Amino acid sequence: MPNVVIVGAQWGDEGKGKIIDFLTEESDIVVRAQGGNNAGHTVIVDGEKHVLHLIPSGILWPDKTCVIGNGVVMDPVSLVGEIDGLRARGRAITPANLLLSNRAHLALPIHRALDRFREARLGAAKLGTTGRGIGPAYADKAHRGGLRLADLMVPKDFAAKFEPKVEETNELLATVGLEQLHFADECEKLLEAGEKLAPHVTDTAVFIHRQLKAGKSLLFEGAQGSHLDVDFGTYPFVTSSSTIAGGACTGAGVGPHAIDRVIGVCKAYTTRVGSGPFPTENEGFSDKLHALGREFGATTGRPRGCGWLDLVLLRYSAIISGMDELAVTNLDGLDDFDTIPVCVAYELDGQRLETPPVRIEDWERVTPIFEDWAGWRQDISSVRRWQDLPANAQAYLDRLSEALELPIRMAGVGPDRLQTLVR
Ligand code: GDP
Ligand code: IMO
Ligand code: MG
Repeated sequence: MPNVVIVGAQWGDEGKGKIIDFLTEESDIVVRAQGGNNAGHTVIVDGEKHVLHLIPSGILWPDKTCVIGNGVVMDPVSLVGEIDGLRARGRAITPANLLLSNRAHLALPIHRALDRFREARLGAAKLGTTGRGIGPAYADKAHRGGLRLADLMVPKDFAAKFEPKVEETNELLATVGLEQLHFADECEKLLEAGEKLAPHVTDTAVFIHRQLKAGKSLLFEGAQGSHLDVDFGTYPFVTSSSTIAGGACTGAGVGPHAIDRVIGVCKAYTTRVGSGPFPTENEGFSDKLHALGREFGATTGRPRGCGWLDLVLLRYSAIISGMDELAVTNLDGLDDFDTIPVCVAYELDGQRLETPPVRIEDWERVTPIFEDWAGWRQDISSVRRWQDLPANAQAYLDRLSEALELPIRMAGVGPDRLQTLVR
């Protein structure tokens, strides 16, 4: 298997976890390179549902190695909780199958408090973050005030660096009457988590380099989606990391030529959770999927807005990550339609846009130009071979592939590991 980067092509929750799990069988090492526990990646194996936040979705395969790279912002307490949760389900987590970068920045309680603070200050204009402190943690990193996993490994020094940060945060929280953080309690919890994580901590860039030299194959697990990217997304309604393929290089410490292939993952329709523009959103379609128990956020449980497939988003995602291929999940979410609207371009002030606008004010004014594509009105969840998909479902994927000039080789017809079809 070549070295592959998997990126979300929409606004996150495309089904990356399921595709990663599927491709892990053929890979040796799975690497997360950005984001934090704002991610929620669902994998269903043997009827058991796992939602992974920081740990790569390859962890469900014994004998594979998972790496959390330097580009991730890591909440140590949450990570220990995730490890314990997997162990309680009989999954072995050892220093042999989970490695953590000593350079990864910490997402700390102060960052969660600041996340809440900023959201509260924004009021109705809030970003709708996951509340996991992701923005403030990355801001601290860029601001050169961050603390890293390596710092947590030296308790005395960590405490000395953490205390003034808590004090500074408390001063700010006091101005709006928000609850104060208790340094000693928080520090103790963090150090306790640090002790548990210690055996896993290493220079993962060196580890990955050695594995590459030994001919092992890497699978990079993107978190969030291309339109939540801090540079290319619907700014400011984005997350704070590079969610595109390039993020895998800086977030893991590998050169661009180490990557052989970029696979984008999208749903057969579009979803978005949190605030921000969503031109193809459709309330009736959202209600329909929610009534089926689908499309509730894997991290926060919030209902996701749902809408039609948007080729403007996908076209741009393909460009900014240099996609070689697209994998389409949740095709079964469209089982119930005679025709399916697909957005092929936007209109803005009488002009046709094939790629997205920049300013948020323009994003909010675009209107989608739809084409009606034929539906299949058939339950496809039990289909296990591509050729057994209804002709119109195959045609939907072919038309998408043609429009984006990208091959589509994988399609999802249900959430289970077994419900991924390969052409
Ligand atoms: P991720 O963040 O990209 O890994 O995606 P999430 O796990 O947050 O959200 C994807 C949702 O779709 C989860 O509930 C998955 O179990 C589910 N899912 C993934 N692929 C399919 C599919 O092909 N069909 C159906 N019905 N559900 C799917
Ligand atoms: P996965 O990896 C969907 C959204 C939040 C919010 C915005 C900023 O599961 O696809 P943040 O907490 O990152 O500062 O929130 O980004 N968001 C996601 N939406 N899937 C995700 O991850 C997301 N991670 C963040 O809802 O709108
Ligand atoms: Mg998710």
